[in-house]
Amino acid sequence: MKAIVCTKYGSPDVLQLQEVAKPAPQDDEVLIRIYAASVNARDWRFMRAKPFFIRLMPGGFLQPKNKILGADVAGRVEAVGRYVKQFKPGDEVFGYLPSATGRGTFAEYVCANENAIALKPVNLTFEQAAAIPVAALTALQGLRDKGNIQPGQKVLINGASGGVGTFAVQIAKAFGAEVTAVCSTRNLEMVRSIGANHVIDYKKEIFTQNGQQYDLILAVNGYHPISDYLRALSPDGIYVVAGGSMLQLFQAARQGRRTSKIGSQKTYVVPLVQSQKDLVFMKELLESGKVVPVIDGCYPLSKIAEAFQYYEKVHPKGKVVITVEYDNKP
Ligand SMILES: NC(=O)c1ccc[n+]([C@@H]2O[C@H](COP(=O)([O-])OP(=O)(O)OC[C@H]3O[C@@H](n4cnc5c(N)ncnc54)[C@H](OP(=O)(O)O)[C@@H]3O)[C@@H](O)[C@H]2O)c1
Repeated sequence: MKAIVCTKYGSPDVLQLQEVAKPAPQDDEVLIRIYAASVNARDWRFMRAKPFFIRLMPGGFLQPKNKILGADVAGRVEAVGRYVKQFKPGDEVFGYLPSATGRGTFAEYVCANENAIALKPVNLTFEQAAAIPVAALTALQGLRDKGNIQPGQKVLINGASGGVGTFAVQIAKAFGAEVTAVCSTRNLEMVRSIGANHVIDYKKEIFTQNGQQYDLILAVNGYHPISDYLRALSPDGIYVVAGGSMLQLFQAARQGRRTSKIGSQKTYVVPLVQSQKDLVFMKELLESGKVVPVIDGCYPLSKIAEAFQYYEKVHPKGKVVITVEYDNKP
């Protein structure tokens, strides 16, 4: 099969289209013929070995250990192992394969445990479905599991126009929250169009200094010191951070709970957890039309280096998708 092999750490040119062995499913796995994957920050980090500790674990010190990158997948089940109960050949599925599985989705085929995938939302294309798993599950688990989001709450999403942020805005709205979205000037209209009640242009206004307070803040990246976030948080508010510098993640994880005379603020880091239940939860939200993936652009597998160059150069609006084309697509 064709796959994109990350030959060494470095710029997008290290991603080379090569012929590799087609995987065979184990007893509890399905073999997926991939039609689309999508680019996430983690793929970029594994390509660039940034931060450095990627080289220590689980990366590979001198060169990447898992040479096929890609964690999001949408495709069709081609074969199933003998203990697989939930899927059959022909099913259209989507899912998230963590790097720890050693399986990459920038390829024509991948094997996945049957509990790692779910049936694709019926109203979505493979390209749309591939945009969902990592970004949407991070947003969902951050808002719901860490943030305990409730209807009517004032929720702020900092970094609202990227992969995680565009899902976070829509998921928070679906939970009945009043959403403030923070992004740059060029993306204000887009985040309004996906449902944000209020928008703040981070190039013109620093939301931590405008006197407003929020019940829940999801920071897609840290961007500000934790003390600024705590000032913008209501006395019983929750601050959840998905990404950022090691210091920002460490501070949020260490802070935990801060109790004062007027309340008890909490801070958390989202550790994305593989979850079939959450894929099904997202499938229902997507089929109801409450959430629609935002896709900046699609690149064929053979042009993946261009996709990563684009990802590095601009902040994409929503997701960048990789498509896999076959001569004999059913
Ligand atoms: N914890 C986990 O398991 C997990 C899972 C997935 C992702 N993540 C992390 O989440 C982070 C974001 O992922 P992503 O795919 O959503 O990234 P992305 O698509 O690059 O989005 C970045 C967002 O941040 C905004 N932004 C850039 N500079 C900003 C600033 N100074 N202040 C406020 N907003 C700013 C961008 O807005 P403009 O484009 O409008 O400038 C954009 O909305 C990454 O660090 C990733 O590692 C963590």
